[in-house]
Amino acid sequence: MSYFHSDILILGSGVAGLTTAILTAKALPEKKIIVITKAEKNESNTKYAQGGIAAVWDKLDSFEDHINDTIVAGDFINDPEVVKMVIEDAPDCMKQLIEWGADFDHNKKGDLDLGKEGGHSTHRILHHKDITGFEIEKTLLEQVNSLNNITLLPFHFAIDLITDHHIEKNVSKKDLSCYGAYILNEKTNQIDTFLAAKTVMAAGGSGQVYASTTNPKVATGDGVAMAYRAKAKIEEMEFVQFHPTALFEPGESPAFLISEAVRGLGAYLRNKKGKRFMLDVDKRAELAPRDIVARAIDNELNISGERNVYLDCTHLDYDAFIKHFPNINNKCLSKGIDIKRDFIPVIPASHYLCGGVSVNKKGKSSLQNLFACGECSRTGLHGANRLASNSLLEALVYAKNIAKEIIDHKELLKPVKKNIPEWNEEGTTIPEELVLISHNIKTVQNIMSDLVAIVRTDDRLQMALDHLNYIYQDTEKLYLKSKLSPQLCELRNLNAIAYLIVKQSQARKENRGAFYSLDNL
Ligand code: SIN
Repeated sequence: MSYFHSDILILGSGVAGLTTAILTAKALPEKKIIVITKAEKNESNTKYAQGGIAAVWDKLDSFEDHINDTIVAGDFINDPEVVKMVIEDAPDCMKQLIEWGADFDHNKKGDLDLGKEGGHSTHRILHHKDITGFEIEKTLLEQVNSLNNITLLPFHFAIDLITDHHIEKNVSKKDLSCYGAYILNEKTNQIDTFLAAKTVMAAGGSGQVYASTTNPKVATGDGVAMAYRAKAKIEEMEFVQFHPTALFEPGESPAFLISEAVRGLGAYLRNKKGKRFMLDVDKRAELAPRDIVARAIDNELNISGERNVYLDCTHLDYDAFIKHFPNINNKCLSKGIDIKRDFIPVIPASHYLCGGVSVNKKGKSSLQNLFACGECSRTGLHGANRLASNSLLEALVYAKNIAKEIIDHKELLKPVKKNIPEWNEEGTTIPEELVLISHNIKTVQNIMSDLVAIVRTDDRLQMALDHLNYIYQDTEKLYLKSKLSPQLCELRNLNAIAYLIVKQSQARKENRGAFYSLDNL
């Protein structure tokens, strides 16, 4: 077991983590930055983002309209100052990405081709075909590779944040500091101690807490779970956004996303009888905010007893479709769906967590020296339901704010002097059967999908909590006696995320945005 020292430790290699690393590395070439990620360097929710990034770009668009759309989608509980800050910063963040080499699609006139998605009053989504996240991740990794003071460590799994609790017993909850993290090197199976003056939590999403999700396997809520165990403030976990249109392929995880931009191009949602049911639900029809569309589909399925609804693209200009969505078209063809004549079977799937580690406008969490950005954070931008294509934007803006805060106070980047103990794994052994872990992961996912999904009730939430408590006891027993593996840590993290979603859902007594309980009607 070894000690590693850096000035800045970044947990996560999606858009939030890499942007923070690049900006601080460029401004502070003498400082050492370590970025760790539990899988391949580019494996994150960012890589799978299809739609794009929302920014006011067109002369006819305005900050006021983007702000208004964000607040309407968020059901009016967004933090208005945060919304204004993020949206006004968006064009500059996009210019920077373009300067770094990101290639966004252009129209025939040579202007940026702006897409439209649910909840947006106009076209304002910058995109790269239907693989925008992939393009951005590639651009950021190229920047990282060109900077000598960033060390990017793949296959390093962060287990826990190091706080005063690891140094002394009976510390008060107030004024806790973060000194880095204990990290499992998946190649050596050793747990090393990474110490840093500043730690940035950018560990991404938690969609895998549900059985059906658009998020990749790595999205197990590790960041929020770690911060919760470290006693950081966690808020608005009840606002889990379900994307209305994941391709219906029972048992597939992750579920393949049919981007909202497809509805932006004019696709219709139809039930089995062929009816465009969204026309009866909202005047914005298929382009209403996601919470409304997902709930309408859920309702449609409950009434009809069917397992999916359909996305109808048959009336769209096929050449335009192929140009914008080559990846979606190929996926459909691989499943025998020809979008020229067949409807695409779709269902809602868990997609994005609006809540998370609570941070201020500078990205500071409630723990000293711990910042958070990206999907694991709760900034106040999204309110009760994130507006489409505002998430990569939020990550960019908060990465920039965190970098600024660190750079402006670079005199605080001092080595950690505290006597931090090594990870203690005395008395632990390698678990004989991994089936106990995989079974419990599936059980957590099924509990959440069955009882804590788009429509909730008090009874279902209580039943979920009872089941989760049982899995918690089981997992803690296993955790205390086992040599740690990524799978066991993910189970522990998923269970913590599920617990937080249920507890914070129970505390909410009013339906807002993505949170909807029949008992609050
Ligand atoms: C999509 O392309 O539909 C997803 C974009 C987002 O989640 O903002």
